[in-house]
Amino acid sequence: MKIQSADRGPCNLFLLFLSVVFLGLATPAANAQTAPAASATHGAGTVVKRAAARPWMNRTLSPRRRADILLKQMTLDEKITMVHGVKPIPVKGYVGYVPAIPRLGIPALTLADGRAAVGNGAKDITLLPAPIAASSGWDVAVMGAFGRVLGREQWLKGTNVALGPTIDVVRVPEWGRTFESYGEDPWFNSRMAVAEIQGIQSQGPIADANMYLTMQQESNRQMEDSRVDERTLQEIYLPPFAAAIQEGHVGTVMCAYVKTNGAYSCENQYLLKDVLRTQLHFDGWVMSDWGATHSTADAANHGLDQEMPDNKFFGDKLKAAVASGQVSQSVLDGQVRNVLVPMFRQGLFDKPQTGSWSASARSPEHDAFARMVAEQGTVLLKNDAGLLPLAAAASVAVIGAPGSTAPRVEGGGSSGANAPYVVSPLEGIRKRAGDASRVSYADGSDLDAAASAARNADVALVFVQTKETEGSDRPDLELPGNQDALIEAVAQAGKRTIVVLNTGGPVLMPWLDKVAGVIEAWYPGQEDGNAIAAILYGDVNPAAKLPLTFPRSARQIPTSQREQWPGVDGRSLYSEGLNVGYRWYDSSDVQPLFPFGFGLSYTTFRLSRLVVEPAKPGLPSGAAAATELVRLDVTNTGKRRGAEVVQIYVGHPAADQEPPHQLRAFAKVDLRPGETKTVSLALDKRSFSVYDPAAHDWAFRAGTYEILAGTSSRDLPLHKSIVVR
Ligand code: BGC
Repeated sequence: MKIQSADRGPCNLFLLFLSVVFLGLATPAANAQTAPAASATHGAGTVVKRAAARPWMNRTLSPRRRADILLKQMTLDEKITMVHGVKPIPVKGYVGYVPAIPRLGIPALTLADGRAAVGNGAKDITLLPAPIAASSGWDVAVMGAFGRVLGREQWLKGTNVALGPTIDVVRVPEWGRTFESYGEDPWFNSRMAVAEIQGIQSQGPIADANMYLTMQQESNRQMEDSRVDERTLQEIYLPPFAAAIQEGHVGTVMCAYVKTNGAYSCENQYLLKDVLRTQLHFDGWVMSDWGATHSTADAANHGLDQEMPDNKFFGDKLKAAVASGQVSQSVLDGQVRNVLVPMFRQGLFDKPQTGSWSASARSPEHDAFARMVAEQGTVLLKNDAGLLPLAAAASVAVIGAPGSTAPRVEGGGSSGANAPYVVSPLEGIRKRAGDASRVSYADGSDLDAAASAARNADVALVFVQTKETEGSDRPDLELPGNQDALIEAVAQAGKRTIVVLNTGGPVLMPWLDKVAGVIEAWYPGQEDGNAIAAILYGDVNPAAKLPLTFPRSARQIPTSQREQWPGVDGRSLYSEGLNVGYRWYDSSDVQPLFPFGFGLSYTTFRLSRLVVEPAKPGLPSGAAAATELVRLDVTNTGKRRGAEVVQIYVGHPAADQEPPHQLRAFAKVDLRPGETKTVSLALDKRSFSVYDPAAHDWAFRAGTYEILAGTSSRDLPLHKSIVVR
């Protein structure tokens, strides 16, 4: 994707400033140049001798070559050490640990969770918004910076393997880990995954793409078997992992708890060998999710490299299996090599790790970044009669979710983190409103009190939430407790009601017609109140877009049948096939509540002059090379500066039997009132290909395609038919 004269928004300038001044830390490669090959405390003679004795420390050799040289020096026990974690963990903090092998200068691996912040109870970290909020900005530059902040904080904490990001395509809106992921579109998730992984790895740690694959439920995640056809697997669920490997150069992939087509992810030969190694040429390591290893010989022979967090299967049992020949020496060598190659590539042998779990990773710049991400990820869903932004003089009743004393700023489970502080919506709004007498508060547990607060104010702001967490799925898509009743009571009493959602995924909105405004603020992290106040009062013009469809009813969703989800007798049938997310609504001609890609602004935009033309020859070949170039104009037709996300969808020839149209490019364009910019985007060869299960490969398909441009999956005013040869 390339934007002509369109990537100069305030957001990007802010990012540039952050990157250069604060986050533009030396890359591992740069570190590698300056780090000594052996301990600097030794004399020069010792350094030379050590370097000669440790030829794998020669940085001019490739990571693969260095790994092979080192492998030859390793004993069986040392090899076994590399392929499992240890429990208890000898160093405080980390959730996974592989001990160092000092004899050979192999550093320890220190693994920590972190999707929105360094997790595992770490203190003095920055709690960023949930990944689903960050991705809602539809801005890969922001996602890259998100990765850099996370990677930087992990590195300062002494982590050299950062467990994240979660890049699974969200199939099931009730999935308890929806908030950890980016959304429901494979291509969208791919772009976000590449940006975040590159960001994390630029700061030192190896990133970990998880969870591989078909991880779509928590309820029965230790047993569930996802039955999914090869084409769907390849076209929908695999692309983010393919991009993470091929473009993001991710060092590790975490295999999931679930089974895919009968075999546990962590011993699934098709997924681990045929796909990861043969098809995608992955040269890093596959680590198991915590306790997701189920066997020794099958797991090792089918492609698992490292058991986490301990050694139930890959300790003595693996050693015995190698001794008995059940697992060959070359399989074990392959496992160890897969761990070593990314360690070398990432510079873990070459740069000293100076971080520690007790160090503070925080900075004022990271706090500011957390706020910016929350602002740019907040989606304005409804704004009747321009009620928002709030007038400075308006009196406001802030009404909190019933029974909750704290705002919901993060999701739970392994991605949960210790926020250093949380600015509540009430605090943020009071601060922004200036005059405290203009802002009243009711906690929402007493409907009458909430209604009376609403009655006495010009505008009522109702904050409602879901509690989403790893380990359990939502039972349904409704707001839990009596939050719907709260909204109804406030809407009935008050003059104008705005609902602010703090959820990790879609919710149903039976009250939608009775309220004037709706904002999806997701789990916004530590800067919650400041960010929502900036949106409400118009200091920031919302520009975020939904990365997931919001259904009108539970019956509408693509996985509404029990056999599909959570499954029957431990099996879930992916019978919706390619029709995941908006593809389902489009192919079944169902109008969702809010479509994928949707989000309002305080200004308005017009798209015009769509041109589609073949890319000029001479571009690099391969799947990523541009095939067609799309150009169009975007005009800000309103009175405020704002940004619009231009989205390009591709419709295949009917014979291909693809969903009606699929996202293949997007760009965020920042515009002054009245300004027009020309955006140009590239469509790659994959945009015109389908996966052919008979050939077990992608096939480029010539034919007549529809190219659609617009501002959501359901608002595509411009289109062109093109013949692709
Ligand atoms: C989660 C992983 C996490 C691991 C370690 C597992 O339950 O699925 O995402 O990295 O725990 O905390």
